[in-house]
Amino acid sequence: MLSSKNIVLEAKNISKYFGTITALENVNLTVREGECLGVVGDNGAGKSTFMKVLSGLYKPSSGSLFFNGNQEILSSPKDSQNLGLEMVYQDLALAGNLPIGENIFLGREPTKKFGFLNLLDYKKIKELSEAHLDKLKIHVKSAEQKVEELSGGQRQAIAIARATAFNSKIVIMDEPTAALAIKEVGKVLDLINSLKKMGVSVIIISHRMDDIFAVSDRVMALFQGTNFAESELSKTTRDEVIGWIMGKK
Ligand SMILES: Nc1ncnc2c1ncn2[C@@H]1O[C@H](COP(=O)(O)OP(=O)(O)OP(=O)(O)O)[C@@H](O)[C@H]1O
Ligand SMILES: [Mg+2]
Repeated sequence: MLSSKNIVLEAKNISKYFGTITALENVNLTVREGECLGVVGDNGAGKSTFMKVLSGLYKPSSGSLFFNGNQEILSSPKDSQNLGLEMVYQDLALAGNLPIGENIFLGREPTKKFGFLNLLDYKKIKELSEAHLDKLKIHVKSAEQKVEELSGGQRQAIAIARATAFNSKIVIMDEPTAALAIKEVGKVLDLINSLKKMGVSVIIISHRMDDIFAVSDRVMALFQGTNFAESELSKTTRDEVIGWIMGKK
């Protein structure tokens, strides 16, 4: 049972103000080990802002975050990465002109000593990234292929591979399928299900009910910056969740 698994991430009473705009007001969330939490809400409901607070990109105006039960104050996404949380941003932020392998390791590449120089270890980057892609059943011709040659779905897969390459325990995905063709959506959803089996917790934001119902164990709805409703997936329906998005219970 998921409900007996450890809580890996908890947010308590998170508020975020931008000047006079209230983006979030006392929002709570819990995520357990290996669980996928679906987050839904209308445009402007506060979903992305909330995820940016969880990843340390935004400092909350008030409220607290707990990783594995310990309260943490995040000054930047580096802090959340060190605690095992990775975020896959909507725009992916991949470097198109670089090979797949170097994208997976971007900024965290293995190096080798050459005299007093630290050089990128390209052989190791290729080996490690191909092993990691294999583990996730992501098929590419070679890790040396440039990202700009890939399809939208393959790029999304590479962004997810990067987010999980360093033993991360929690991965946040903001609209991972929004820009994809139907055929590619299924592959990204399969990938999320494989991550869950590996014990990784996933938070997925999506406007697509098919995505939410294909991968989530639990779904929560934000409405105008507040917690509006939440349910185990098996205890709700698409129509009910669509109602929550529009502020109806
Ligand atoms: N950097 C910012 N400065 C000022 N206001 C912001 C900023 N970021 C978000 N907001 C405001 O906060 C509210 C929540 O925005 P947010 O992007 O979190 O919504 P969302 O639920 O992700 O919407 P969407 O589904 O359209 O992505 C909106 O009113 C938005 O205009
Ligand atoms: Mg958003």
